[in-house]
Amino acid sequence: MAKDKILVIGACGQIGVELTLALREAFGKNNVIASDLREESILLKGTGPYIQMSVMDKEKLQDIIKKQKITQVYLLAAVLSATGEKKPMIAWDLNMKGLLNILEIAREEKLQKVYWPSSIAVFGPSSPKKNCPQQTIIEPTTVYGISKLAGENWCNYYFQKYGVDVRSLRYPGLISYKSEPGGGTTDYAVEIFYEALRKQQYTCFLSANTYLPMMYMPDAIRATIELMEAPAKKIKIHNSYNLSGISFSPKDIAKEIKKHIPSFKINYAPDYRQKIAESWPQSIDDLKTKKDWGWKHQYDLGKMTSDMIQHLSLNFK
Ligand code: SER
Repeated sequence: MAKDKILVIGACGQIGVELTLALREAFGKNNVIASDLREESILLKGTGPYIQMSVMDKEKLQDIIKKQKITQVYLLAAVLSATGEKKPMIAWDLNMKGLLNILEIAREEKLQKVYWPSSIAVFGPSSPKKNCPQQTIIEPTTVYGISKLAGENWCNYYFQKYGVDVRSLRYPGLISYKSEPGGGTTDYAVEIFYEALRKQQYTCFLSANTYLPMMYMPDAIRATIELMEAPAKKIKIHNSYNLSGISFSPKDIAKEIKKHIPSFKINYAPDYRQKIAESWPQSIDDLKTKKDWGWKHQYDLGKMTSDMIQHLSLNFK
């Protein structure tokens, strides 16, 4: 592992912070450069090198990659589903141009590996709702989903045509307590914990029985690093792997939270995000992922809820 030099782009986001910290733990802090458009997250300060830059600036990006002798890039910068519906052109621009900049640099500089996340948002209303398989009808109806599907095809193209080793996972909604998410439809499942601890009350922007595929962040981080560390010959899917963790509804998670905070109350006021959620599957089949490189999730709804409350309650003392 020692010779790898990693650049994480979008390091101050919900996944970026935790992935950067985990990579620094595994590869050594000076071998993992964090970068983001934003100022350095307080959670990253003092844990390793940081560069403030935009993934849209290909020249600067390439210059840094060359000078720092980067061998692997994790590209996490993206506009998510809910923000994407409000700003479709910005979402398309950032999500596509960011990826194409990295894929081009990977080809030109012969990078060893690239990681780029896709999402369950690639699936649309015509995909199976339950246990949605790896290969099925894929007709997304959100800008975010369209950009992720196009991105998956670009990843596959760069692998087939230029041999770029780019790997990808279709993340479910991610739940975490370190860095807050922003602009996603699955974000309710994070907000609910903050509000439960702050006000013992939450008004959910999705309706009670809206089931969605979800995952606890420690599982997502482990999946990402396991995929990237798997021998190349085990990687059989070069667009993006399905990834399954938990499937639950707002009503289910509220019930689980009530076990810890009995006075907790939930109300429902579905907004434009309801339609986005309803266009996605409720659960994912990741049989192929398990078979190819041995993936297995660890956290169920109960275990995740206890862990979230335990960690977040420290902030509310
Ligand atoms: N969490 C994302 C969103 O809600 C889905 O990948 O936009």
